[in-house]
Amino acid sequence: MKNYLLSNYNRFGIYFDRGEGATLFDRDGKRYIDFASGIGVNSIGYGNNEFSKAVSEQVSKLLHTSNLFRIAPQEELAEKISQLSKYQLFSFFANSGTEANESAIKLVRKYGSKTGRYKIVTLEHSFHGRTYGSLSATGQVSLHENFQPMLDGFSYAKDIEDIYNLIDDKTIGVMVELIQGEGGVEPLPKEEIQRLAQYLKSKDILLIVDEVQTGIYRTGEFLASNYYEIEPDVITLAKGLGGGVPIGVMATKLENGFEAGDHGSTFGGNFLASVAGLKVIEILEKEYKSGDLQKRIELFEKRLNQLVEKFPIYTSLHGIGLMRGLSIGKGFELSTIVEKGLEHGVILLKSGRNRLRFLPPLTISLNEIEEGFFKIEKLSKEILDKHGK
Ligand SMILES: Cc1ncc(COP(=O)(O)O)c(C=O)c1O
Repeated sequence: MKNYLLSNYNRFGIYFDRGEGATLFDRDGKRYIDFASGIGVNSIGYGNNEFSKAVSEQVSKLLHTSNLFRIAPQEELAEKISQLSKYQLFSFFANSGTEANESAIKLVRKYGSKTGRYKIVTLEHSFHGRTYGSLSATGQVSLHENFQPMLDGFSYAKDIEDIYNLIDDKTIGVMVELIQGEGGVEPLPKEEIQRLAQYLKSKDILLIVDEVQTGIYRTGEFLASNYYEIEPDVITLAKGLGGGVPIGVMATKLENGFEAGDHGSTFGGNFLASVAGLKVIEILEKEYKSGDLQKRIELFEKRLNQLVEKFPIYTSLHGIGLMRGLSIGKGFELSTIVEKGLEHGVILLKSGRNRLRFLPPLTISLNEIEEGFFKIEKLSKEILDKHGK
């Protein structure tokens, strides 16, 4: 059959049909334990009745009015984000991570326009999105090829120390992921980040933390910034917040960072997305408070450590909470592991720096974790047998 889609994705030949908990079923009824959650989106897994009810009731009632009018659940969600972040934040709603980052770049540049500053320093191996502002912020030159010129004013530091070297009198912002998702699930050192945050404050340079992947309890805390005990000037959220409904948020300390007409979005924060975000947060807050999220994190970490102990395929463990990476030893192929995972019925992700990435739903059951790791052990034995090890 002819396929009328553009070829910008490298897709596996599987059609999923439905899901339950952290388990997906394809059209032939084959089960897959999901250790990927649609790249960190399906934070509450599949088939959650409470979520379905809230969203479908809203679908029947009202989906969209535009931001010409007040939207009660959007206001409620903004308040909730500020409350759970544990410091005062004011939100702008968009529809994706890249849009959230675009709005962060605009906000920061507006702040800098008063003093003629516009430059933003980001990190090598970072990933901030695919639209021009966010792509320009992304410190991976290979992604810029064929799409030049990028937006002016971005530079890419090798590590945190190098950020200080790249700051000059035109710098208005520093933008980082506290754990680089695409860049190998590598957490930045906590003390260095805290020192950087203090330094930037003293220079009136804004700190933007891209929490698109790390936010909404992915690390075990509401924000990775909470885990790092910092209060960035700007954070961006997306992925896990909508439980599969598209949403993006840019939240900032700067109450008057935008004035009417500075920025906007037709769909951003409509009734559907805001109700979805509120319900996801309500469900995950309960999981956090009851200690169930922590139990899952502990079991997941234990099983990952056992993989490193048992199989020379996996050399070291990286990441925090339920955002994890395993380094793959020399002679082993990341793609083979992911493909074998699908054969065995466990969904795994790749990340940069030759690492296997794990982003399971935050509501995954302990049994599903055990089943997923059982499958990984099986496929790992097969790989080792093939290598004659
Ligand atoms: C850290 C980070 N920032 C931004 C993005 C872009 O988000 P989206 O694909 O929703 O535009 C992603 C996702 O791929 C991401 O992981």
